[in-house]
Amino acid sequence: MRILVVGSGGREHALCWKLASSPLCDALFCAPGNAGIAAEATCVPVAAIDLDGIVALAKKERIDFVVVGPEDPLCLGMVDRLEAEGIRAFGPSKAAAELEGSKGFMKDLMRSAGVPTAAYQRFTDAESARAYVRRQGAPIVVKADGLAAGKGVVVASTVEEALDAVDQILGKRRFGAAGAELVIEEFLDGEEASLFALCDGKTALLLGVAQDHKRVFDGDKGPNTGGMGAYMPAPILDDAGARGVMRDFIEPTLKAMAAAGRPFTGILYAGLMVGKNGPKLLEYNVRFGDPETQVLMMRLRSDLLPALIAARDGELDQVDLRWHADTAITVVMAARGYPEAPEKGSEIRNLDAAGKEQGVVIFHAGTKPVDGRIIANGGRVLCVSAVGTDLKQARERAYRAVSAVDWPEGIYRTDIAARALPR
Ligand code: AMP
Ligand code: GLY
Repeated sequence: MRILVVGSGGREHALCWKLASSPLCDALFCAPGNAGIAAEATCVPVAAIDLDGIVALAKKERIDFVVVGPEDPLCLGMVDRLEAEGIRAFGPSKAAAELEGSKGFMKDLMRSAGVPTAAYQRFTDAESARAYVRRQGAPIVVKADGLAAGKGVVVASTVEEALDAVDQILGKRRFGAAGAELVIEEFLDGEEASLFALCDGKTALLLGVAQDHKRVFDGDKGPNTGGMGAYMPAPILDDAGARGVMRDFIEPTLKAMAAAGRPFTGILYAGLMVGKNGPKLLEYNVRFGDPETQVLMMRLRSDLLPALIAARDGELDQVDLRWHADTAITVVMAARGYPEAPEKGSEIRNLDAAGKEQGVVIFHAGTKPVDGRIIANGGRVLCVSAVGTDLKQARERAYRAVSAVDWPEGIYRTDIAARALPR
């Protein structure tokens, strides 16, 4: 088969790395890809949100199956477009991607399906939103309804902060049309976990639970990021807990989506807050997580490709995935200044040697090749990943490799997975 992966981050590198090892894969393309992905796939400079460009590329290269990584093209309807052209594609339709594309749609559906989630209300009018904030008090959470690259959520610890968020998002349209509507919701306390389920519209298969680290600095300090590191399995939600989320969250969601005429195919990524009374749903993403996919792929023993095809074909009840018993971890190396203003253009050296540490794979998130050198070209730049027989070993291996990377302009957290280490 000839496969095309859409995207250019660490997630797409991990997907390409895994797909390239499939005996079913004869040729692998990635659009647009990055310097690391170029070792696994033919990279083609077509932007991930360029629907016409991706369709044209898929036709030109006679692609049999497309795997769409990021949410933006999914929410724009890339899978619908490809399928309409007779090209099989993995990921939700535009209508099903609304689960991530509209927080209000998601919350209404969860309410009717009885999925545990924060109490909320939707607003298009700033005056009513402000009145609601004053009535509810703080802490309270204000969210832009649409996609805002992870920046549209304000967890406000005071009423003033929440009122300011209402003004910024709804009043000043800081996130454009994505902020034409607000969801204001109850603050949930606890620890976050990411659960991944592969879905074919009717059947859901648990892939696992990982934990991400959203803040840029050690000790969960500093601004929110796309994610600074992850590990898996995550003891915060054990096997029984994960099965409970499949039964009480994922399966009712699949039923409700099918009933709404929007059957969900693809990856359903539940962002959970695990508190004293068990997990509650913070959000759904309709794609693989980044950097969680890096640890997911390192632990997956089975061939990924037939599983993705079975999901597309509605045959997931035929699939049984095998996993390595190992623990996996990934440490993100970002460019100085990330997330506000990452410095681009510095050179990264000694990557080959660092990647030869036992159990280590270095996925590229934001790099480009320039005259045979590897140049930082994004916020998150590398995802230094490792497996080990336990978390301690995996961690030691990953951080040894991080130290071996010669990149003085890079920053990283030194406490990824620290809270899961046995005391
Ligand atoms: P979201 O994009 O909806 O997941 O929100 C981004 C981040 O904001 C989450 O990963 C949480 O850290 C935080 N967050 C979102 N909703 C809530 C909530 N209801 N209570 C507490 N924190 C929240
Ligand atoms: N790990 C956060 C995300 O993929 O959205």
